[in-house]
Amino acid sequence: MASTSSPAVPAGSPDLNLGFVDPHREELVLVLDFGGQTAQLIARRVRDQQVFCLLVRHDLSLDRIRELAPKGIILSGGPASVYGSGAPQVDPAIFDLGIPVLGICYGMQLACRASGGAVRPHSHRQFGRTNCRVEAANDPLMQGLPAESIVWMSHGDQVDELADQFETLASTDTCPFAAVRHRTKPVYGLQFHPEVTHTECGRQLIDNFVKRICGCQGTWRMSSLIDREIQAIRERVGTSRVICGLSGGVDSSVTAAILAKSIGTQLSCIFVDNGLLRLGETERVRARFERHFQTDLHVVDASERFLSELAGVTDPQQKRKIIGRVFIEVFRKEAETIPDARFLAQGTLYPDVIESGANTDGSAATIKSHHNVGGLPEQLGFELIEPLRDLFKDEVRRMGLELGLPDELIWRHPFPGPGLGVRCLGEITRERLEVLRQADAIVLEELRRAGLYQEVQQAFAVLLPVSSVGVMGDGRTYENVVAVRAVQTDDFMTADWYQIPYAVIGRMSTRIINEVRGVNRVVYDVSSKPPSTIEWE
Ligand code: XMP
Repeated sequence: MASTSSPAVPAGSPDLNLGFVDPHREELVLVLDFGGQTAQLIARRVRDQQVFCLLVRHDLSLDRIRELAPKGIILSGGPASVYGSGAPQVDPAIFDLGIPVLGICYGMQLACRASGGAVRPHSHRQFGRTNCRVEAANDPLMQGLPAESIVWMSHGDQVDELADQFETLASTDTCPFAAVRHRTKPVYGLQFHPEVTHTECGRQLIDNFVKRICGCQGTWRMSSLIDREIQAIRERVGTSRVICGLSGGVDSSVTAAILAKSIGTQLSCIFVDNGLLRLGETERVRARFERHFQTDLHVVDASERFLSELAGVTDPQQKRKIIGRVFIEVFRKEAETIPDARFLAQGTLYPDVIESGANTDGSAATIKSHHNVGGLPEQLGFELIEPLRDLFKDEVRRMGLELGLPDELIWRHPFPGPGLGVRCLGEITRERLEVLRQADAIVLEELRRAGLYQEVQQAFAVLLPVSSVGVMGDGRTYENVVAVRAVQTDDFMTADWYQIPYAVIGRMSTRIINEVRGVNRVVYDVSSKPPSTIEWE
C-alpha cells in the first residue's frame, strides 16, 4: 500500500516454487510483489478464480517472465512512493509484452507514471472504505459492477494527472482516477485494493481481469497443488525421516496428512502438551490421530516445565518468547529420541509469516512475534518443510478436505501456538488457567448448541487481569472477569466482531458465573481488527 512516509525498498520476494511450474500445463498469473501487506492476498484472490497464481519478486527479468508466459501480470501495492529515491521500479517494457497488466495502488501509480502521468502525495491520506462510481460501464474490467459501490483505499500518494494514453474507468470524491486503463494497450490500474474483502466488487474486478481481459478459463484445482506438493516433498525427503509438530489444529493436521500421503511411515509426529491447552485437548488429539493416521505419534507432557518458566511473567511478548523457547527445547529433546530424522515439517501459514515481519521481502512491520516462524529450523538443526507457507486458512481447509480429513477437524477454529498463555492476561498460574479453560469450554459449547460455531471463525474466552466486585447470596465477592470474543473473518488479517444473539451470550454468561468458581463477571469484546487484533495479547 503506497504511503508517502515509508520509502522502504523491498528487496523483492523470491520467485516461489517457479521450478515446478510448467507454463504449458497451467494458466498462470504473476503478481509482482512491491512489498504491500496484501500482495499475497492478490494471489489468493486470483486462485479463487481457479487460476494458478504466483507471487514473484518485482524485478523478475522480462526474459524470465516471457519464459513463464503468464496470461496476466498484476503489480501489487507497496510501502514506498514511486517518485522516492530507490523506490522499486518496473521495467517499462513490461507494458509492451502484450500481456495484460493490472496495477494495484502503487502498481497503478507505476503504470501511469511510465506513460508520463504524475503521482503526488495527496492532501488527505486515504485509509478505509470509500464510495466509488463507475464512469465507463462498458469496459471489460467494469462488467457486472453496480454504478456505485464501496472500495477499500489505503494510500498516501495518488495519480494527480493522467497521461493522454489513459482514460478513467471509475472515480471517488477525492480520487478522480480510482480505476484507469490504457487506451490502446491491455494495461489497467486500480487505486483501491480489490483483493481486500471490504471492496464490495473486488472479486468481480479480479474475475473480470483474469477471465475477460487475460482470457483465462479457470482450470486450476486444489488437487494440482496437492500433487505438486506431494511430488516436491518426495523428491526432497528421499529416504530420510520427517518429524512433524502436531498441535491438533487444522494447519498441523493438514501438514501431517500431506506428509503421510507423500512419505507414509517415514513420518513421526510430536505433540507437546504445554499446559496451555483447551479442556480435554490431549485426549482428543490422541484419539483423532489414532483414527486418521497410521504413523508414529509421541505425546510429551511438558506442562510443569512451561508453567514454571512462565511463573510471574505478565508481558505478552515475553510470554510468547518463553513459550517459543521452551517449546523448542522440549521438542528438540523428544526429536533426539527419533533416529535418522533430517526434516522438520510445520504448518506455518502465510498470515503467520506476514505478521511476524518474516514475509518474503521483509518489509511488513512486525505486529506480534509468532513463535512458529523464524529461528526454529536453525535452532533445531533440521531442514524445514512448510507445505502450507503460501496458503491462507480457507485454502488449507480445502486441501484438508481433499486429503480426506474429517469435517469436524477441518472446521475447527484455529488455536494459537502459545495457547491459553495469550488469553490468560497477567500472570499465568495453574489455577487461573483452570478458570479460563472451563469458561472457554462453556463459550464453545453454547456456541455449538446454538448452531453458531461455524458462523464465526474464532471464538474463545479471555481471563482478564482484573478483579471485580460482585454480590453472591448475602456476601460481597471480589473475583475474576472473563471476556468473550467471537469474530468473523475471511483471512484473519482483518476481522469483524460477531453479534452473538443476546440469548446465547446470556446463557454463556449465566453458566460461566454459576459453574466456574472464581468468576463473577462476563463482558463481551466488541472490537474489530484492525485496529484491535483477534487475540488480546
Ligand atoms: P491476531 O491476534 O494477530 O491473530 O489478530 C490472528 C490469528 O493468528 C492466531 N495467532 C497465532 N497463531 N501462534 C499461532 O500459531 C501465535 O503466536 C499466534 N498469535 C495469534 C490467532 O489465534 C488468530 O487466529
